[in-house]
Amino acid sequence: NLSGLDLRAEIDRLRKERNAVILAHYYQRPEIQDLADFVGDSLELSRKAAATDAEVIAFCGVKFMADTAKILSPQKIVVLPDMDAGCSLEDSCPPDKFRAFREAHPDHIALTYINCSTEVKALSDVIVTSSSAETILAQIPPEQKIIFGPDRHLGGYLNRKFGRDMLLWPGVCIVHEAFSETELLKLMAQHPGAPVAGHPECPPHIIDHCDYVGSTSGILQFAKTFTGDTLIVATEPHIIHQMELAIPEKTFIGAPGADGNCNCNICPYMALNTMEKLYIALRDLQPRIEIAEPLRLAAKKSLDRMLDMAS
Ligand code: 13P
Ligand code: SF4
Repeated sequence: NLSGLDLRAEIDRLRKERNAVILAHYYQRPEIQDLADFVGDSLELSRKAAATDAEVIAFCGVKFMADTAKILSPQKIVVLPDMDAGCSLEDSCPPDKFRAFREAHPDHIALTYINCSTEVKALSDVIVTSSSAETILAQIPPEQKIIFGPDRHLGGYLNRKFGRDMLLWPGVCIVHEAFSETELLKLMAQHPGAPVAGHPECPPHIIDHCDYVGSTSGILQFAKTFTGDTLIVATEPHIIHQMELAIPEKTFIGAPGADGNCNCNICPYMALNTMEKLYIALRDLQPRIEIAEPLRLAAKKSLDRMLDMAS
């Protein structure tokens, strides 16, 4: 029974006792973002996980992110507050089906979004995140045939922007898929002139209305620099917490789903992590990420290529 515990103080105590670093994604609950040692996008969190000299990484994000931390820092203990914190993109891409897709296109390389399982990373040539995808794709010759998975919207966005014809795996992020164009247009009409910033996981009918498209860090950077007083944000709404901290005088509105508000766009996987579960993860050093060494080494190759090509 954790009632009566000062969770914030207990987490601080355990963080020191365990020599732990708390990494959090921008889609985490505000109270978790506020106590994290570092909050970032997928690429930044991978880099932090690779560079930290802490003994324990408490990863407040989803499982593929904690897996990535373990692949890059195998000697560290990596805990994820809730092991069920998955991702619809990872679920859409079972390794056996992805292997068959690769085998059906032997003259293609596999450029793969980091939102996938360790097994799929091991079957891929280069991993990308939303903040590194454009830089990496620009380094691949135009004649090179590519399969891109698992996010067909990010892949489609890259195809349109770079005039490529990558073959797309049919996965989607259920969060970004849920934005409603009709409701977005109504919101834009209520706030004439307010720019829209969106994530490339959004479908094209939402991207078409965006003044800025980029990763969570890119969107946050846009929020800090746009001219005007109101910004419409077409990504998971917990990122608005960082915008309100950084620029309290401006107004940030989450783009709506079909019900007209942004609550249906809260990532149900990210929301599984709570202060209580983070406290227990630091106390018990469980649940822990474990990856068999041959699989880890195979997956690390495609991740290392990303880290090289992104810098
Ligand atoms: P980025 O933080 O890399 O933009 O990724 C967004 C996302 O959906 C993570 O699950
Ligand atoms: Fe996966 Fe979408 Fe949630 Fe990110 S927001 S973890 S892509 S389901």
